[in-house]
Amino acid sequence: MGNGIQSVRGMDDLFGEKARLWFFVESKMRQVFSAYGYDEIRTPLVEYETLFKRGVGETSDIVQKEMYSFLESDAEGAAKVVLRPEGTAPVVRALVEHKSYQQLPVKWFYVGPMYRKERPQKGRYRQFHQYGFEVFGEKGAGLDAETLLLVQTLLESCGLNTFEIQLNTLGDLEDRLRYKTALLDYFSKHESSLSPLSQSRMHKNPLRIFDSKDEGDQSICNSAPLLKDYIGPEAKAHWEKTLQGCQELGIRYKLNHKLVRGLDYYCRTVFEVTDTSGKLGAQNALGGGGRYDGLVSELGGPEMPAIGFAGGFERLLLSLPESIIEKQSAENRFDLGIIDPGENEHRLAAQIVKHLRSKQLKVDWDPEAGKSFKNLIKRADRMKVKKSLILGSQEIESGLLKVKDMGSGQETNVTLAKPLNQISIEELSQEICKIL
Ligand code: HAM
Repeated sequence: MGNGIQSVRGMDDLFGEKARLWFFVESKMRQVFSAYGYDEIRTPLVEYETLFKRGVGETSDIVQKEMYSFLESDAEGAAKVVLRPEGTAPVVRALVEHKSYQQLPVKWFYVGPMYRKERPQKGRYRQFHQYGFEVFGEKGAGLDAETLLLVQTLLESCGLNTFEIQLNTLGDLEDRLRYKTALLDYFSKHESSLSPLSQSRMHKNPLRIFDSKDEGDQSICNSAPLLKDYIGPEAKAHWEKTLQGCQELGIRYKLNHKLVRGLDYYCRTVFEVTDTSGKLGAQNALGGGGRYDGLVSELGGPEMPAIGFAGGFERLLLSLPESIIEKQSAENRFDLGIIDPGENEHRLAAQIVKHLRSKQLKVDWDPEAGKSFKNLIKRADRMKVKKSLILGSQEIESGLLKVKDMGSGQETNVTLAKPLNQISIEELSQEICKIL
């Protein structure tokens, strides 16, 4: 494209078939959210940087290196703001700011763009979109299981069948502190064999070493102490009830005792959904979530239990089965195209089209009069209309309704009692619908 201006690296345009598929997935999800009693929340794309420093955690990759930040204004001493890298901290900020916790539980879902300055590759973008939800005010394990059911239902509603839910518990804060000491002790013994990244993580947050992709680190992790052996009685009872609930609700999960998640706010139940189709390559996390009972008070609200999940739209679309994509593209085709050469025919067609479209039929029509029959048929092929309504002068005068199936070429003819232009548009449309 020579000197043409292109989109920013890692930030893509959305159009055509992908946009239609996106709309299909989003509308399925909205139906599920509504059935589960969730309301939508939209927070701004820009928030103060401190929200994520306190909310997501100073040691997380997001805060350390991935935020797009700039000054709120040109005024001296202006605060630093960032493009939101995730949705949970903003939703908690909104809950606290508007004191929406006065009537509990609060159940919110969101859909929208997030921004992370990561190295773009397949399934990883700098502008990506999440669908997510957060629930506030319920501490029982029943909600943990229902949360997982919602995640499973959201994905299944879009026709996805190649995913796995991995589940773990992080215990309570005290449990994690005891565990961190044990872990630090263990990793210190292997410090010189760890990768530089894991060495740097060791003192800040040794749990993050489990996220390392380095093979040497992984083999050291294989013999590391497991968090599950440090969980206190309360968190343990919660965990057991969660697993029981999952079984009762038919959730297909796999235990992963090494799952820690990369954000600092989690406690107790954490989970990640991974793609098993192999279509996503290295970026195979479809979504993740968990409990974060301390975050609301950390951000200035009352002590309040909370749990949530977010998944990536782009990755979900990449892992959809071919059959769903084909079905969607077939359903998105025009129901009808209009072949109306001639001025009079065009005038009648305009009224028919207007009426059929008001009945939610998807109709293709060239609004410019005077196109030849051949041209209009070519257009119908190009637009992949399912059927064409032939409105020639002969058909109109003799009251002949003629519909051609563009796939098989088969024609259906119905002779009406009067010429087409003497029948009411409502009646005529009804007759057309009958032979579609
Ligand atoms: P997260 O694991 O950072 O969690 O992101 C959730 C999902 O967003 C990922 O599993 C992935 O599908 C998608 N995602 C993340 N980064 C990118 C990227 N650069 N490109 C494409 N997709 C991406 C959270 O954000 C938490 N707020 C989830 C949560 C909600 N926890 C509790 N409530």
